[in-house]
Amino acid sequence: MCGIVGYVGKKQAVPILIDGLSKLEYRGYDSAGVAVMQDGKIEVKKAKGRLAVLEEKLNSEGKITGVMGIGHTRWATHGEPSDTNAHPHLSKTGKFAVVHNGIIENYIKLREYLTSKGFEFISETDTEVIAHLVEYYYTGNMVETVAKIVEKVEGSYALGILCDDNPDTFVAVRKESPLIVGLGDGENFIASDVPAILGYTRDVYFLENDEIVVLSSDDVKIYTTDGDEIKKEPFRVNWDISAAEKGGYEHFMFKEIMEQPRAIKDTISPRIQNGKIVLDDINLNADYIKKLDKIYIVACGSAYHVGVVGKYVIEDMTRIPVEVSIASEFRYMNPIVNERTLTVVISQSGETADTIAAMREAKRLGSRTFAVVNAVGSAIAREADDVLYTWAGPEISVATTKAYSTQLNAMYLLSLYIAQELELIDNARLNDCIEALEKLPDNIQSIVENKEEIQYIASKYYNAKSVFFLGRTLDYAVSLEGSLKLKEISYIHSEAYAAGELKHGTIALIEEGTVVVALCTVKPLFDKMLSNIKEVKARGAVVIAIAEEGHTEIEKEADYVIYIPKSDSLVLPSETVVPLQLFAYYVASLKGLDIDKPRNLAKSVTVE
Ligand code: G6P
Repeated sequence: MCGIVGYVGKKQAVPILIDGLSKLEYRGYDSAGVAVMQDGKIEVKKAKGRLAVLEEKLNSEGKITGVMGIGHTRWATHGEPSDTNAHPHLSKTGKFAVVHNGIIENYIKLREYLTSKGFEFISETDTEVIAHLVEYYYTGNMVETVAKIVEKVEGSYALGILCDDNPDTFVAVRKESPLIVGLGDGENFIASDVPAILGYTRDVYFLENDEIVVLSSDDVKIYTTDGDEIKKEPFRVNWDISAAEKGGYEHFMFKEIMEQPRAIKDTISPRIQNGKIVLDDINLNADYIKKLDKIYIVACGSAYHVGVVGKYVIEDMTRIPVEVSIASEFRYMNPIVNERTLTVVISQSGETADTIAAMREAKRLGSRTFAVVNAVGSAIAREADDVLYTWAGPEISVATTKAYSTQLNAMYLLSLYIAQELELIDNARLNDCIEALEKLPDNIQSIVENKEEIQYIASKYYNAKSVFFLGRTLDYAVSLEGSLKLKEISYIHSEAYAAGELKHGTIALIEEGTVVVALCTVKPLFDKMLSNIKEVKARGAVVIAIAEEGHTEIEKEADYVIYIPKSDSLVLPSETVVPLQLFAYYVASLKGLDIDKPRNLAKSVTVE
């Protein structure tokens, strides 16, 4: 999400910044900009759209010259893609320019504070608070000032900052969001990722959280927030450029699986404040919710599978009836929808033709529409009455992973929010759920760290002809996604079945060596799943089970068991799906398939 490049040296900065940004295009963006120190003053140019639009603007409105600058490609989160919301952002007097990648979680509070101190905001971004904060806290020493900013700001950030008192140096700092320093000969760089600087140098520093860097053309100094200098060993990059663009991973899908802890944290943490679920900009108040007699969830593909999970968690938490429908069905089925229905549409791209049409149909029938969307400013985000953004960042692999995972979290947040507003949940239970949400990124991290075990199981069965996924209730909902992941990237026939339904027909297909993935994480139904495993084992199936840690009795029945960390039942689908994503990935990888671009599939289906 977003790309940053910074340069200080002896050459013209603009072409180097644009070249570097072009190497970060894979991260996804919808606007771009540069700030350059020109004759001791900061000059900024920015434009909505591709880098070519920015270049055109630079050519037509007069070139900016100077040997130091920062550049940015923005993937909109706070505020739609526009010239004004594009980075760099200037402080009130134009003394400072800032580029930012990440999310400032307490930006509303900071914005209110700065407004009370006379600062005016011209953009809708969270980043603009940083530009004004730097000016507000400026002591004349940029390391001291940045240390103060780090103390005040919550969330994730990689920042590059120009100050016109310092025409030959600029500063950078990062927390959670990526930022590297490139060490050249008479020139130095910052960048979100290695490819941006690989044409100039292979020597880099990897920065730890809250290390403050001061760069000039012939020196790079790194400081702690206490102002102590840190000595680092440079790292020599040997990768070829295409590998580096995927952050060193072979496929975007794998990279995106690994990004899930971060994506989930970005989606949930700004929405949890002082022990409550806070959904900013959402107008669902208790009076409105009380009048609802139904919630309809409408989506396509994996987003539809999120809806199936959503039905279970919203009904369980709020007792409001929920229907889930595939968007292409909903739009033609004469659905029972009216002003007492809340229609929730879920979409990563916000551009899926059937989902847009279904949303319009719901509106036409009088329903309020609530969109869970990843792409800011997309058609669905613009047209829905309420938008709850998932902050997964750009997803490039056709097979979704991190967008699906953040959408699941949006369902948990929505169900908890409704329960809280209707006072259906007591504080103790709400606290337990919030604690479970907050632990989720670490739990998922521990699952992905166990990837070799899943790779081993995949190596045994990647030639399977058919794979069945079984589960009950929430596990059934997740099995739909596990099965889809496998079929879409490995081209293996696969079906997801509610485990109790198997014996009404499909069990006839189980024979010697059939692979069955049994999801056994729903605690009250664990014994029932053991019985289902016995049924398929008796017919020769090989069983790979997914179970919570501690449920070791399953080892007696299943051939392989993948354990996931114990957690509250509300959030378990988020854990259960991860081994299934990894299994599909490794199977496809062992088959040597084009994982990121599977045959016949498109990332965004904009036709009916
Ligand atoms: C395509 C993608 C899926 C996605 C579905 C819905 O089929 O390959 O990963 O789930 O579209 O897309 P949306 O952008 O609306 O979430």
